[in-house]
Amino acid sequence: MTWSRFKEYFYQNTELGLALDISRIPFPEDFLATKEPAMQAAFSAMAALESGAIANPDEQRMVGHYWLRRPELAPGAELRDAISGTLQRIRQFAAEVHSGAISAPDGQPFSHLLVIGIGGSALGPQLVHHALGQPGRDRMSVSFFDNTDPDGIDYALDAIGGKLAQTLVVVISKSGGTAETRNGMLEAAAAFRAAGLAPARHFVAVTGEGSQLDKVAAAEGWLARFPMWDWVGGRTSELCAVGLLPAALQGIDIDAMLAGAAAVDEVTRRPITRENPAALLALMWHFATEGRGAKDMVILPYKDRLLLFSRYLQQLVMESLGKELDLEGRVVNQGIAVYGNKGSTDQHAYVQQLREGVNNFFVTFIEVLKDRSSSGDGRGGRARAPIQVEPDVSSGDYLQGFYLGTRDALSEKDRGSISLTIDELSPRSLGMLIALYERAVGLYASLIGINAYHQPGVEAGKKAASGVIALQRKLLAALREAGAPAEGQTAEALAAQVAGSPELSFKVLEHLAANGVVKKQARTPWHSSLYRA
Ligand code: PA5
Repeated sequence: MTWSRFKEYFYQNTELGLALDISRIPFPEDFLATKEPAMQAAFSAMAALESGAIANPDEQRMVGHYWLRRPELAPGAELRDAISGTLQRIRQFAAEVHSGAISAPDGQPFSHLLVIGIGGSALGPQLVHHALGQPGRDRMSVSFFDNTDPDGIDYALDAIGGKLAQTLVVVISKSGGTAETRNGMLEAAAAFRAAGLAPARHFVAVTGEGSQLDKVAAAEGWLARFPMWDWVGGRTSELCAVGLLPAALQGIDIDAMLAGAAAVDEVTRRPITRENPAALLALMWHFATEGRGAKDMVILPYKDRLLLFSRYLQQLVMESLGKELDLEGRVVNQGIAVYGNKGSTDQHAYVQQLREGVNNFFVTFIEVLKDRSSSGDGRGGRARAPIQVEPDVSSGDYLQGFYLGTRDALSEKDRGSISLTIDELSPRSLGMLIALYERAVGLYASLIGINAYHQPGVEAGKKAASGVIALQRKLLAALREAGAPAEGQTAEALAAQVAGSPELSFKVLEHLAANGVVKKQARTPWHSSLYRA
């Protein structure tokens, strides 16, 4: 990789404080020209999407996450008012919580926030909380339930401890029917009741109008309900109430996040490939993966606060692009696998394999020029004076040294990489990163001809899980009907009685026995273990 190639392909936007170096992806000189017709078609599809076309044909939905930061682009006054009005309500609600106008039932201000959601209803809020939080100075401390793991729930509740009475709970679910989130809500409500607290006076919902969650929140008189619209996908919902409400409550400048996203949208909306960083990213993904996911995308931010960015992108990219069928209904099994953590920490973990092992990936390095991000964000953060760890060298210099060193070490072994550089990590630049990747995913989806905005695989998993729960109910009913025999029955016999799968029955019975719901007489071999009520 040469200096002249770097100069040829380096994209820098000093107004945004954003730069992109694609020169270390070994595409040939004519690659961008060859792809230009496809890229122009992708720009046209994106323009249609932004003006309200049905861009999610399977679900017959518009795709409107770009309107969230420029409501005036939304088709129709009703949508524009809904976006602006909701934003205003979010600001107002957060201000009232901060001022104490909305307070905990004991009259104390709400000082802690528990966010309950999963997937697109959790990953964005978690990313923002971790990337932009100022521990000790945030308006509210924040914790999450993002699963139906009872032990994980207990862990979070134990950490909340005595702050429960001053805890505000935001339950987020677009569909309002996601089991993990419903369970988290029920577990949280039980914890409040056990502490003599009325859940409704602590709970807020973010959900689709008329959903199951919306109905519960309305019937129980929760503190507030915020809308989630069908034209915003879960994984692109960070900049609607899903992400903005928790962020505003934490004290993060949500207007700066929106402004950052809008500024990147402005640049990446332009159909000039060489001046469009989202288009360049999409084209690099296409070249590196041969347009069929042949290589994995490793995300390596050299910034602790961006640790969760790789998880966030994992969902955004894999749930959007990982599709069995293309738009014509042909089986294509598309996708790009995404993983990553942070540098330089990963240097001491899997980077060994990246440099010397199987060459089945390309790296995206994310560099943040400013070492200490807490000053200048308008929140009175602490800016510690850099110390020198060696003469003329700071820890931040080492961080950059490791990034540049690893990049060179990979290039030497013909491992391709992209470098994305932002001036500093702030609400504005995080909004920019989110918008950049949202558009890159949308453009790439057009290049490979798939619907990036549905998730049939997620729905399939949800259906399969409810089948298992139904089987469990039948097994328990059969055991109860059998009364209390001296000897129990095998998993196989019970499965036959309820016309269920023996393997699933065995797994379910083992779990029930481990949790004391059924009794188990263990025999050897395992398949003759006996279960009874
Ligand atoms: O991106 C998506 O669509 C999914 O990951 C959803 O966000 C996730 O399944 C949670 O769904 P819901 O918000 O309806 O509870």
